[in-house]
Amino acid sequence: MKALILSGGKGTRLRPLTHTMAKQLVPVAGKPILGYVLDHISEAGIKNVGVIISPETGDEVRGYLGSGNRWGVRIKYILQEEPLGLAHAVKTARGFLKNDDFVMYLGDNLLREGVKNAVRRFRRDRPDALIYLKEVENPKQFGVAALNKDGSIKKLIEKPKRPPSNLALVGVYIFSPRIHDAIDRIRPSKRGELEITDAIQELINMGYKVVSEILSGWWLDTGKKDDLLHANTIVLDEYIRTSVNGKVDPASKITGRVEIEKGATVIGSRIRGPVKICRGAVVENSFIGPYTSIGEDVKIKDSVIEHSVILSGTCIEGIERLEDSLIGRNAKVVKDHDQHKALRLMIGDDTTVEV
Ligand code: TTP
Repeated sequence: MKALILSGGKGTRLRPLTHTMAKQLVPVAGKPILGYVLDHISEAGIKNVGVIISPETGDEVRGYLGSGNRWGVRIKYILQEEPLGLAHAVKTARGFLKNDDFVMYLGDNLLREGVKNAVRRFRRDRPDALIYLKEVENPKQFGVAALNKDGSIKKLIEKPKRPPSNLALVGVYIFSPRIHDAIDRIRPSKRGELEITDAIQELINMGYKVVSEILSGWWLDTGKKDDLLHANTIVLDEYIRTSVNGKVDPASKITGRVEIEKGATVIGSRIRGPVKICRGAVVENSFIGPYTSIGEDVKIKDSVIEHSVILSGTCIEGIERLEDSLIGRNAKVVKDHDQHKALRLMIGDDTTVEV
């Protein structure tokens, strides 16, 4: 069994962050999503991993994952020149996948339960595809499954106008090499992509065995700001354990589950968990409320921050209250002490600012 991790794509819904970084590397609770994905692949005992990269962000992805040693796996990078769809990514990886079964994991998705049990089931039952389904509120935005009475799959439709159910296809799949025959038979969709949903439907049409599992635990798709904040909330809730290895002065008060990495400093501040503060960060005379992740070398002074993700190197000063925010790297959000009340902004393309 091999693994194929999709870490190319455009990431248009997470602009402006994705103008300068790969969306799979945006940290959740201080760690890139892709890091959790590799944890899951490695837990499932898979050693041979292909990672799809794009020309724009490939080097950054490579820089983070390296040879895969850290996870005990071997990584081969596969360049997809253009993001022509999930099934196109599989086609691009054909030379790496050969005739092996493989787990396909979207690099910006996360499953609570990982893939270990699904890999075991696949090996035992030998289907041609094992897919996960999850009940969602807005099925129109996903690939959706219609099931037969016995629970088997009747039909799969990508982003249906009239969804036949609220069961969405999750971004993690396991395939036998028959998926390649199915991909060879499909055509690009209306949006010009080779859809994996269509390829799985084609497997069904060809009479092959496609089984599904309905997820009870969470599934996170971090492709948009609010999804990313939600993922941060869930991951902080599940994974953060109290560990204070940085410097905290006696005037500071820490409550709840808070992880402060070595090399971080907290001065005269209140931190109410779950919160993660990465190394090199300095928090001074501030309140950091629940569900906040503070990246490396971030400086926060005289501010109140809650339910936010602040990426590395950013400075926040004199801000009365910052909530539900996602702030990129090396940004500055500072109070203007001038009497003249004005907003002075220099912000990137595709940015949203709510004042
Ligand atoms: P999507 O989120 O569906 O696509 P995208 O990254 O282009 O984002 P947006 O819609 O905001 O522009 O992709 C899911 C995952 O698969 C993501 O990690 C990127 C990856 N991907 C590829 O590697 N190759 C592709 O051709 C596509 C479409 C996605």
